[in-house]
Amino acid sequence: MVVDRPPPKKSVAPSKIQITMRVDCRTLPARRGDHDSIGPRTLSVILIRFLSELPVIITIANQKGGVGKTTTAINLASALARKGKRTLLVDIDPQANSSIVFCDIHQLLYSTYDVLADSQIKMKDILQHTAVRHLDLAPARISLAKLESQLVGELDAPFRLKDALAPVRTDYDVIVIDTPPALGIATVNAMVASTHLLVPIQASYFALEGTDDLLETFEKVKARANPDLKILGVLITLVDKRTRLSKDITSQIRKVFSGNVFKTMISKSVRLEESPAYRESIFTFAPDSSGAAEYFKLSEEVLHRA
Ligand SMILES: Nc1ncnc2c1ncn2[C@@H]1O[C@H](COP(=O)(O)OP(=O)(O)O)[C@@H](O)[C@H]1O
Ligand SMILES: [Mg+2]
Repeated sequence: MVVDRPPPKKSVAPSKIQITMRVDCRTLPARRGDHDSIGPRTLSVILIRFLSELPVIITIANQKGGVGKTTTAINLASALARKGKRTLLVDIDPQANSSIVFCDIHQLLYSTYDVLADSQIKMKDILQHTAVRHLDLAPARISLAKLESQLVGELDAPFRLKDALAPVRTDYDVIVIDTPPALGIATVNAMVASTHLLVPIQASYFALEGTDDLLETFEKVKARANPDLKILGVLITLVDKRTRLSKDITSQIRKVFSGNVFKTMISKSVRLEESPAYRESIFTFAPDSSGAAEYFKLSEEVLHRA
């Protein structure tokens, strides 16, 4: 997948320079002399306000299926919302597994597919409040599977999600994007729209297989479409602490990705596996489980790193 659109004249991603410019514009003195009334303290308060308006946008991606992307999206978004962060979970996987936990997708009129494929449908038209306080959802539906063919030949194809999020992004502190198990147009859209990439890797045989392709896509997106995209971290999932294989693979992943690996690891847990079937996050389904403690710790590490 080649992302080959030159950066638009307006900067693609918000940078500190851009923020400073916004502040400068808004604080331009009406008359000469008004400048004196804006001291450094006022300016820093304004800067902090503008900085805090920009959400952290985290793509959760790995083109392998079954590595814990959706489980991480559901529980990380829930943990952040429970901490009082205004959180939006964006599901762009046609399987809609994270949407199913928080809403009845059969009742939906529109989904993220409609927003990405049709410029008439806006992100605000599909947002749903969830039962979790501070957590909203942009749900997916199976129709998303048609996205790739729908966007063939569209010059702005990789930028659809970024553009769609622009009008709502200041309503949130954190946006978490769950992606399909592929490095196609949906995952590229997520990376282009994001500030950070979180890569779950399953502690199993062949764990690192395919990560080269994922990192190549990350580098391509970073090179042209989204230079500010950063790797937030590699999350080791489905760890079975009892087995030697799990221990060996965990240390191999830490050797390869060194400081990029989260300290928190997610253990294999029946509770984590069961909770989506009951349409609950781990925090309501099994609040005292190891999975709840681990995803809570992960949310703290995410906030610290982002
Ligand atoms: N830590 C875990 N312990 C046990 N089962 C898990 C864990 N994480 C994920 N699962 C289960 O593994 C399967 C794949 O996980 P999922 O999060 O859907 O992966 P992906 O989104 O990468 O395809 C699901 O059935 C899920 O419930
Ligand atoms: Mg998934």
